[in-house]
Amino acid sequence: MAQTKTQPDSRRTFLDNTLVNLINNGLIILDETLKIHAYNKWMQIQTNKQEETVLDQKITELFPNINEKVLQRKIKTTLLMQNATYYTASTSNYLIPIKINQIQNSKFEYMQQDVSIVPYDVANKKVALIITDQTGMANTNALLRENILKVKKLNEALIQEKALTQKQHEQLIVSSRNAAMGEMISMIAHQWRQPLSVINTSIASLKIKKELGLLNESATDNTLQRIEKIVLYLSDTINDFRDYFKPNKNQTVIHLASIFEKAFDLLKTEFESENITYTQSIDENITITTYKNDFLQVILNLLKNSLDAFHENNATQKWLKITTKQTKEKLILQITDNAGGIKKEVLKKIFEPYYSTKSKNGTGLGLYISQKLIEDHLQGSIEISSKDNQTFVTISLPK
Ligand SMILES: Nc1ncnc2c1ncn2[C@@H]1O[C@H](COP(=O)(O)OP(=O)(O)OP(=O)(O)O)[C@@H](O)[C@H]1O
Ligand SMILES: [Mg+2]
Repeated sequence: MAQTKTQPDSRRTFLDNTLVNLINNGLIILDETLKIHAYNKWMQIQTNKQEETVLDQKITELFPNINEKVLQRKIKTTLLMQNATYYTASTSNYLIPIKINQIQNSKFEYMQQDVSIVPYDVANKKVALIITDQTGMANTNALLRENILKVKKLNEALIQEKALTQKQHEQLIVSSRNAAMGEMISMIAHQWRQPLSVINTSIASLKIKKELGLLNESATDNTLQRIEKIVLYLSDTINDFRDYFKPNKNQTVIHLASIFEKAFDLLKTEFESENITYTQSIDENITITTYKNDFLQVILNLLKNSLDAFHENNATQKWLKITTKQTKEKLILQITDNAGGIKKEVLKKIFEPYYSTKSKNGTGLGLYISQKLIEDHLQGSIEISSKDNQTFVTISLPK
């Protein structure tokens, strides 16, 4: 009997046909020997092959890459179990390796597919292969994985960068302290000039008295005592100075008034030469536990800023005031000067690194570093405001 060519399955009604050709899935009816009995529109579009040309062909002729044994085994299992079997894109590993048109950005050469093998006509050992294209999803997943990797790398880079900034930041503090040291040395030299000349004249007068035979014991004692006192003062200033430039590892209890006195002492000559009235209303009993030198560095920065402002400004009655307020947990101190105030547009930027209105003479790091020291090292906060010709610096510190 002459074999008749397989017609698209005769049981397929018009409705079935329409549906089968409308679904967004591939549908192939296969028998156990892998012969094709139906091939829907979707498959025809994907493979560019008409149903008539593939009917009766073995599917392996169409897709030479198919693992014939695996597919056959899976079909057998389905028929035996009379139950649909289902393979996801990751496990089907393109059971039917449909080469996809290389869409832009696609990561895959073959369609990533979910494949269901459904018993169709058990008596005639036919199954339906339903293929769902998951390439889009797989692409998205692959892209996602790639992006996650990128984000991870970026994150690592950021962390490294942050570490660098932290390091740079520490260096900034050190270099600003060194710059302050330079300034301080010139101030100390200035402060020493007068006591040194007192020592000088005392020694000269001793010499003269000796030559003239006028040197008596009490005159010698008096002069030597005076010289001793001055030398003590000189060595105190240098000790303070040395102490200030030691990094402070531990917090210590300090009297607030004394630290301001020390700061003022270092800048006294400048205050005097600018004719600035310095008033400090700080209760002698107030103590705080803090990193002494960091705190001193901040105060020096602030006092220096006021001095600079006075220098540029020709106020007649120049003054700078330090006042304090206390709450249960906080110590609030305010430094106010009448050195001209700060304009609104300047005020917005003063805490930015390298922002300075002092063309050549300012690094613009003073307030940036002060804020860092107060916030990061001293766990406090600093605010600066201005009204008319006055500037108000408010520092709040934990007690
Ligand atoms: N008391 C003040 N009165 C007027 N302007 C001030 C005062 N304090 C700060 N400023 C303004 O804030 C700016 C930033 O201050 P900051 O201490 O950060 O840098 P700088 O003083 O310019 O530079 P450096 O601290 O290196 O000397 C100053 O340039 C100045 O314009
Ligand atoms: Mg400054």
